[in-house]
Amino acid sequence: MSNLPKAVIFDLDGVITDTAEFHFLAWKQLGEELGIEVDRELNEQLKGVSRLQSLERIIASSPKQPVRTIDELERLAAKKNTHYTWLIQSVSPNDILPGIDTLIKELRAANIKLAVGSASKNAPFVLERLELTGAFDYIVDASNIRHGKPDPETFTDAADYLKVPYKACIGIEDSAAGIEAIKRAGMFAVGIGAAESLHQADYLVRVTDNLRMSTILEAYSQWSNGA
Ligand code: BG6
Ligand code: MG
Repeated sequence: MSNLPKAVIFDLDGVITDTAEFHFLAWKQLGEELGIEVDRELNEQLKGVSRLQSLERIIASSPKQPVRTIDELERLAAKKNTHYTWLIQSVSPNDILPGIDTLIKELRAANIKLAVGSASKNAPFVLERLELTGAFDYIVDASNIRHGKPDPETFTDAADYLKVPYKACIGIEDSAAGIEAIKRAGMFAVGIGAAESLHQADYLVRVTDNLRMSTILEAYSQWSNGA
């Protein structure tokens, strides 16, 4: 028998739109100011991770950095956010990644609840710019989440709000931390990206163009039947 999920929880950055690239560029710029190289390999470990934790990882990647107070770290994190918010000012509906609009519409038509589970405090602004705020039943407020990804709280918060059992949820993520969070929540994980970093995903596509509702639902159904 084919089981339908009751909710789909989307990550934002790198799933709905390519703001993951803007986070990378903003960290790279801050890194240059600190004399630390932020390359794409290091960036993979920053995806899905909160602002302050990302900064700590960047600093830890470089042996010659002085010890900084929490005030200094917060000032640096705020500086990165200034770079980032400058980059997202021009985001528009044209920046919704290919396949996402169709997927959202088809899931809605199938009566499946939709949420956004992002670690970003800028998520509400980005969703406004994309004109997608109204497309979701719930948007997780990152500032209310005590334990960020890879902790499952972001995803369980959405499922709890929607009153949907975790096993009836699908999470869609582009980050290793996010896929781990979905799996720890006991949900079905759809990964977007490379198998090397997203090996825990239950179903993986290289890019969002390859997302098809029918294929995702089929894979979910097999998983939920214990196949
Ligand atoms: C996640 C991004 O969605 O949000 C991370 O993948 C980012 O790269 C995190 O650090 C926090 O975002 P913000 O906008 O609150 O700094
Ligand atoms: Mg992401």
